[in-house]
Amino acid sequence: MKILIVNGPNLNLLGVREPGIYGSNSFETYLPELRKKYQDITIEYYQSNIEGELINKMQEVGFSYDGIVLNAGAYTHTSIALQDCIRSLKCPVVEVHISNVHSREEFRHKSMISSACLGVICGFGLDSYRLAIEGIISNIG
Ligand code: DQA
Repeated sequence: MKILIVNGPNLNLLGVREPGIYGSNSFETYLPELRKKYQDITIEYYQSNIEGELINKMQEVGFSYDGIVLNAGAYTHTSIALQDCIRSLKCPVVEVHISNVHSREEFRHKSMISSACLGVICGFGLDSYRLAIEGIISNIG
């Protein structure tokens, strides 16, 4: 089983960026823990601050991998191109947010990508990524 985790803009700064909201762990620290927990699954990781690069990467794996866990960062709230991309792929995509976007500013309440995703997980800190992997596993059955 192969899963790709995709982090969008500014998520390369996890641990440094607004730690009161996103925590003080970097993704590079968290990822080995996740891989250790799911040793039977190949978990690939990709981060970019550039919308088109996120799309290129998802198109590259979206017809052969079993699922994508996507934290699109602020593109979540703006990107029709990401929605179109998700709809084009064969594999399921789970939308993830570290923070509870619904308890924050109103512009974060709207997602352009949720309707194209298998499901949405938000508000559980970095554990949101694990919960998304669980969602992909149980969807495959
Ligand atoms: C985020 C929430 C988004 O609104 C924000 O723009 C981010 C991170 C989260 O993980 O909580 O960059 O996706």
